[in-house]
Amino acid sequence: METGSLPRLEDLPLRPGSRVLVRADFNVPLSAGGRIEDDLRIRAALPTIDWLLGQGAAVVACSHLGRPKGEPDPRYSLAPVAARLGEMLATEVPLCPEVVGEEASAMAAGLAPGSLMVLENLRFEPGETKGPDDEAHADLAAALAGLADCYVNDAFGAAHRAHASVVGPPRHLPSAAGRLLVAEVEALGRMLDEPARPFVALLGGSKVSDKIGVIDALLGQCDLLLVGGAMASTFLAAQDYGVGESLVEFDQVDQCRDRLASGRVSVPTDVVIARDMVPDALTAVVAASDVPDGWKILDIGPATATGYAAEVARAGTVFWNGPMGVFEMEPFAAGTRAVAEAVASTDGYSVVGGGDSAAALAKFGLAERVSHLSTGGGASLEFLEQGDLPGLRALREGKR
Ligand code: 3PG
Repeated sequence: METGSLPRLEDLPLRPGSRVLVRADFNVPLSAGGRIEDDLRIRAALPTIDWLLGQGAAVVACSHLGRPKGEPDPRYSLAPVAARLGEMLATEVPLCPEVVGEEASAMAAGLAPGSLMVLENLRFEPGETKGPDDEAHADLAAALAGLADCYVNDAFGAAHRAHASVVGPPRHLPSAAGRLLVAEVEALGRMLDEPARPFVALLGGSKVSDKIGVIDALLGQCDLLLVGGAMASTFLAAQDYGVGESLVEFDQVDQCRDRLASGRVSVPTDVVIARDMVPDALTAVVAASDVPDGWKILDIGPATATGYAAEVARAGTVFWNGPMGVFEMEPFAAGTRAVAEAVASTDGYSVVGGGDSAAALAKFGLAERVSHLSTGGGASLEFLEQGDLPGLRALREGKR
């Protein structure tokens, strides 16, 4: 997809005081006490918000947070996000206690030029996650659009959801892609559009069934696909290796065998195993063909990690999604750490899909060292798979 076809902030018919609804992805991890554990997604939204405020716009920001069930749930309030935005912008950022309704309309109408407010969690409204044919979806989209003169989508992480706030407002308002959305599409687009060779993709995570579409999409583009994480067990089972108690998706074994036949899929040659997935586990390193009964694979082994790192080092383009092992526990972190260091050190163009791989990079202090750290987990994979997303389509086809 060409980013050139997305309407830009500069295309909006803005005047000082224009009210702009910004759909951001403020879905940040929160501690049990409600403290923000990683504010990457909030920081990533600032270039768009700053630019709009600088134009004298009155900005109404909105987002989902977690997965509340279509009704207010204080555990998922955007209050910590509004507070963090206030700290970052050194100003008071009021939180509207509702998403749409009289109070939201009054607050948006009274918002001064150059100021920002935040609506409460979009998923407190049942229409948000309903499909585009549902009346509640249409009503919410219209009500959100009624709060503003223009709409900006900067929520790359949610652009794969055809939710009311993502696909609805462009039907009603002049709309544009925010800075983050454009940057994400450009960075991921490089994976699809003449990537520098060799193009090495690293995929981990738990399930082949979740990733078979992206595996195929990547195999259509890359020179080498390196597999790790729990899903490697299914690939090993496809080579007729016994994998002990490791998680295997038996209904995916044939699919894995087909992909291995391409000759461009590498699987671990050695693995770290334990009887139990616990932080003080007794571990062993064995050949991937030699996992004893009663043990399970919990990380790639050191020889595999060295081999994968060498492939990443000589790559012109690297895409990484999904940890190589249970990196949250020290005995099973070495494979993911080695791969993360290799991705951070390569001279090639490196893109890391969000979610767990982003968390791993942050844990190892390497987040600043990759070419592009995506804020989208599911969205980045779906973009690579489909080459487009519902949120992007809505902007291209929306009102100008
Ligand atoms: C994410 O965290 O990947 C995005 O914010 C989307 O969240 P969702 O999977 O709950 O739609």
